[in-house]
Amino acid sequence: MRPEDKGMCLILKPTELCNWNCEYCSSTNLVENKAQKLPIEKVFQFLDRFPKTQGIFVVGGDPLMMSPSYYENLLDYISRKNLETKVIITTNLWDFYIKPEKWLSLFKHPKFEVGTSFQYGLERKISKNLYLTEDLFIKIYNKFTSLLDYPLYFLSVVDDTNEHLAMDSVLLAKKLGTQCALTWAVSSGLQKKPFLSAKMFKIYMDIYHQGLTEYEKTVYDLVKKVGGLDMACPMNRSCGHWMRSLNPDGRYFFCGPLNDDLDSRAELSFEDEIIKGKVLGDVAIHSDWQYLKEECLTCDMFDFCNGCRKVIKDTKGHGLVEDQCTMMLSLRDGLLEVAKDEMAAAVC
Ligand SMILES: C[S@@+](CC[C@H](N)C(=O)[O-])C[C@H]1O[C@@H](n2cnc3c(N)ncnc32)[C@H](O)[C@@H]1O
Ligand code: SF4
Ligand code: SF4
Repeated sequence: MRPEDKGMCLILKPTELCNWNCEYCSSTNLVENKAQKLPIEKVFQFLDRFPKTQGIFVVGGDPLMMSPSYYENLLDYISRKNLETKVIITTNLWDFYIKPEKWLSLFKHPKFEVGTSFQYGLERKISKNLYLTEDLFIKIYNKFTSLLDYPLYFLSVVDDTNEHLAMDSVLLAKKLGTQCALTWAVSSGLQKKPFLSAKMFKIYMDIYHQGLTEYEKTVYDLVKKVGGLDMACPMNRSCGHWMRSLNPDGRYFFCGPLNDDLDSRAELSFEDEIIKGKVLGDVAIHSDWQYLKEECLTCDMFDFCNGCRKVIKDTKGHGLVEDQCTMMLSLRDGLLEVAKDEMAAAVC
């Protein structure tokens, strides 16, 4: 396939600035000049090169630290070029909560989508002394849904401090009539220790067995994957073919989480791929990130343990390979049972 025809996904980090102080934040070392903002023309250049780009996923920092006109210019460009591209932001929504009128028209744009983040525990911090409570989150959620007519999904980060509360996030999604996505904490920025992905799979299985699959996006996608359908991040080893990430200073990577680490082994040349239009081919993934250990190559848990390059990097880098392996093998029979049930359901 010609690069121009690739349905790419772009992770866009327009700024590192944020009005909150989360203790686990992965995106705190992106740029030296914290006020630096990515010129929108860089994104136009990306779209010129990859006009079939399906989605631009805006994170940060917080996307609402940019002005609405930044995104309006982007949407204008998409419409002038007749592109199918959608713009999807993940934001703490604080600026919207305080000044909804500033954002309303943008949020109503048919090609613009908004998601947010919430998890139980004390680590999601509005300021040094104030954490995001369930009450306040529901107020933000209700303000959003009362002004916009689509459900607001949310992402919940799970780490060693709040794993016992993970299921509560799923129950909250059910209560609110929406979906959450539980995601394991990666070790970047302020988060010093990764959450073992095997522990996360245990939580996903509990969600499945409690009949809550429709309220949690990763289990929902995993069930489709074991039923034979493809899955996006974080369980798709071909991400180097279709994912790119842009840092506020224009540095360019093939993976959003590895971008957070400014890991040069995941960095690509924007000049070569985008400006000169060189055909780079599929990205060569560093040998350290191929698998956790040799035994994985003949193990039927391979995809679960080695689905994400950043997880491989974190698990090896923190000396957690044997912990991961032992726990994953203890889950093996249960996971294969689910896979069998789902494949049978897919055939029916
Ligand atoms: C860096 S934030 C930027 C978007 C926005 N400020 C927010 O918090 O929703 C992007 C997403 O990554 C999540 N996140 C932050 N730190 C993380 C970590 N150490 N591991 C995994 N996800 C993390 C956030 O909760 C959020 O859903
Ligand atoms: S996780 Fe999001 S809201 Fe929290 S500090 Fe990081 S960028 Fe800001
Ligand atoms: S269970 Fe162990 S051997 Fe199998 S893929 Fe996972 S880490 Fe590798």
